[in-house]
Amino acid sequence: MKPVAEYNFLDPAVVENPFEFHRALREQAPVYEVPGIGLFLVSTHAGVLEVIEDPRRFSSKSGPAVGGMAPPAEVIAAMSKGYPHVDTLITSDPPDHIRYRSLVSRAFSARRVAGLEDYIRGVARDLVSSFLHEGTLDLVPAYAVPLPLSVIADQLGVPRSDMARFKKWSDDAVAPLGGMISLERSVECAESIVEFQHYMASIIEERRADPKDDILSDLIEARLDGAEPLNVPEMLSILQQFLVAGNETTTNLIASATMLLCQNRDQLALVRAEPALIPNMVEEAVRLESPVQSLFRLATEDTTVLDTKIPKGARIVVMYASANRDAAVFPDPDRFDVRRENAKSNLAFGRGEHFCIGVALARKEAAIAFETLLGATRDLRLSPGKNDFAHVPSFILRGLKQLAVDLTPA
Ligand code: HEM
Repeated sequence: MKPVAEYNFLDPAVVENPFEFHRALREQAPVYEVPGIGLFLVSTHAGVLEVIEDPRRFSSKSGPAVGGMAPPAEVIAAMSKGYPHVDTLITSDPPDHIRYRSLVSRAFSARRVAGLEDYIRGVARDLVSSFLHEGTLDLVPAYAVPLPLSVIADQLGVPRSDMARFKKWSDDAVAPLGGMISLERSVECAESIVEFQHYMASIIEERRADPKDDILSDLIEARLDGAEPLNVPEMLSILQQFLVAGNETTTNLIASATMLLCQNRDQLALVRAEPALIPNMVEEAVRLESPVQSLFRLATEDTTVLDTKIPKGARIVVMYASANRDAAVFPDPDRFDVRRENAKSNLAFGRGEHFCIGVALARKEAAIAFETLLGATRDLRLSPGKNDFAHVPSFILRGLKQLAVDLTPA
């Protein structure tokens, strides 16, 4: 294993296959200062927990920046044609965060998610019937993308006829997070977000006048005793988080879990024989492939993490993906084990105040995706010679570009 100092964490080859680097970090420097840029990488389960469970010492506020890096002037100019940036939920701290969280929790209640089950099953069934007899197909655009995309778009009042635009907005909201795109593309993404904001602002007005039984209407109606309801810029900020979080992450989970099942045929056989294992299989896939690889925090005071000194103002990368392969918590951590007893101890959905608000929805969507797909097929295999398992380049999100599979209907 190379010394950590010899890795460049933004090198495309490291981003594509980060796990050896993560292991080097955990073993050599669980809290590692990237020389000269005031950035600390925290890579063990205990270290990540120490940071994310203490929002007072470690702020989530980012402003319009990605990871604390101010956007270029051209991007700021493009964004100025949209609604003002507000730090909500994922980029806010207590006490503001508590207000946002309480308002949004009402829209994301367990009752609402439970009530969506039959409807999600219907979406999954329609998709599977549309490709079941194709034999060989790319599962990403056929299934992993449209399942969560349809669910969140329906819940936000976006008509199916606008689905392609919705997907483009989602891709353009995600692309800058990786920090690996050109200036021209960054401006294009900013323009796309502004278009999304104007589009959603008009749907919000429609829903205000004519509420429906969906998440958007709940968000508009949400009230707390003595607190202001959400205003339009706040709602747009939250909707943008749903667009990214409610969509790309779940897509990436469905695709990577399919890859893992096909690569580990003994595990696929276990799940086929005992479908009750599906929720734990999903948890194990989310642990191993971590759709959200890392996120940022900012030190609000001179402090320590795992006894390593961190100065006030330093940026911290909490490496969920690395924490999820920490052998101190997960024995034989690189193994895909659908029966792993503590798979749910993964940090893929975060922990503490910012624990994923969509976790119940994501788990339900992924479980239904596999119940439906495995129920409809007798065999599911990787198409020989058609997969390079390359990922969309991003330091933050991990998602397969494509996944070619051969299906045999049941
Ligand atoms: C496999 C799917 C998903 C993964 C891996 C995932 C991961 C995460 C993680 C790691 C966080 C914590 C952020 C932090 O520590 O700062 C988070 C928060 C969040 N997630 Fe998810 N998520 C998923 C699905 C969803 C879905 C379906 C939605 C909603 C439609 C959603 C909405 C959010 C929101 C709004 C937050 C911010 C919560 C807060 O700051 O209080 N996520 N998610």
